[in-house]
Amino acid sequence: MSWKRKDGRNYQDVDLAAFDHLVLAATAEGLGTCWIGAFEQGPLKETLGIPEEIEPILLTPLGYPDEAPPARGRKPGKEFIHWNTWK
Ligand SMILES: Cc1cc2nc3c(=O)[nH]c(=O)nc-3n(C[C@H](O)[C@H](O)[C@H](O)COP(=O)(O)O)c2cc1C
Repeated sequence: MSWKRKDGRNYQDVDLAAFDHLVLAATAEGLGTCWIGAFEQGPLKETLGIPEEIEPILLTPLGYPDEAPPARGRKPGKEFIHWNTWK
């Protein structure tokens, strides 16, 4: 299934933001996740019975973590936030 913008870009790229919401909501419930982008479409679809027209772009395990590693800190916003122009 695919929804295209006028320039041909697939809206799935934008929908990835929803995945982050899922990760944050899971974390708020005490659950652990891990973005999995490295997988093969064919075996995944066969294993999970996903229809041919569906194109998975991310997966996550979901469960209660058995460890709580410390936060690794954040990149300063000024390194990636741009106000009005790129510079
Ligand atoms: C787009 C994307 C794809 C990822 N794919 C994988 C993956 O295939 N396998 C994996 O073990 N982790 C994957 N990760 C998880 C990262 O390795 C890392 O554990 C995660 O981003 C948390 O690190 P952070 O706290 O520094 O952001 C992926 C993360 C992102 C953002």
